[in-house]
Amino acid sequence: MPQTAAIEVKNLRFRWRKALPEVLRIETLEVARGERIFIRGASGSGKSTLLALLAGVNLPTGGEVNILGEAINRLSSARRDHYRSDHIGFIFQLFNLIPYLSVLDNVTLPCRFSRSRKERATASATSLQDEAMRLLAHLDMADEDLIDRPVTELSVGQQQRVATARALIGAPEIIIADEPTSALDSDMRQAFLRLLFQECEETGSTLLFVSHDRQLESLFERHIALDEINRLGRGEA
Ligand SMILES: Nc1ncnc2c1ncn2[C@@H]1O[C@H](COP(=O)(O)OP(=O)(O)OP(=O)(O)O)[C@@H](O)[C@H]1O
Ligand SMILES: [Mg+2]
Repeated sequence: MPQTAAIEVKNLRFRWRKALPEVLRIETLEVARGERIFIRGASGSGKSTLLALLAGVNLPTGGEVNILGEAINRLSSARRDHYRSDHIGFIFQLFNLIPYLSVLDNVTLPCRFSRSRKERATASATSLQDEAMRLLAHLDMADEDLIDRPVTELSVGQQQRVATARALIGAPEIIIADEPTSALDSDMRQAFLRLLFQECEETGSTLLFVSHDRQLESLFERHIALDEINRLGRGEA
């Protein structure tokens, strides 16, 4: 049997509230497993909105969002949360780290919600903490002094790296990254992308990467301009 696509979107429509105009109208979008995709679009064009729909954080106003063959828009809110924990690592534009937890506890958090991610994280490492440390070390964040700190005491670039290790732990099939490099310097940006690509390569994960940084675009095999797939972006509303 052929494998289902990582992501398949059909006739997607979205508006934030009834009184507001539609933000997105996308007829089809298909992403194969293992693809690495760069998504660009002007500020306010709906990139973060689209990612939240793909992750089942929000529900579409119309149409279907299939993730690994599951129509997540038909799942209950609790099952959507569970499905997301199992299959999607999300690096949010504003990180969403848990302020009262340490760096290490933030990174291992998805494994508290998802048994499958915990199993995968510990399959290759002696403990969950060791796997978290391996990822943090790749991002130059394994300093003894850093890992036990509350995340509120980190710089923005450091928080971005913690959010990345948290998305990668337990090898979810899909990694979604919303502007993950905006607060990193150019050396760190390269290291960051190397880690992201290496981890995705090793686990066969699909990567969706949103950025304004056109310099990074050439490193990706497929590019999507949101304005080109969003019919509302071309004045066809
Ligand atoms: N919670 C919300 N309620 C109502 N409207 C919203 C909400 N969040 C975003 N919007 C609107 O939806 C549209 C798309 O916003 P979105 O955050 O997806 O843009 P973006 O492409 O990610 O922009 P940026 O590059 O600045 O992050 C904008 O017009 C924005 O004002
Ligand atoms: Mg955004």
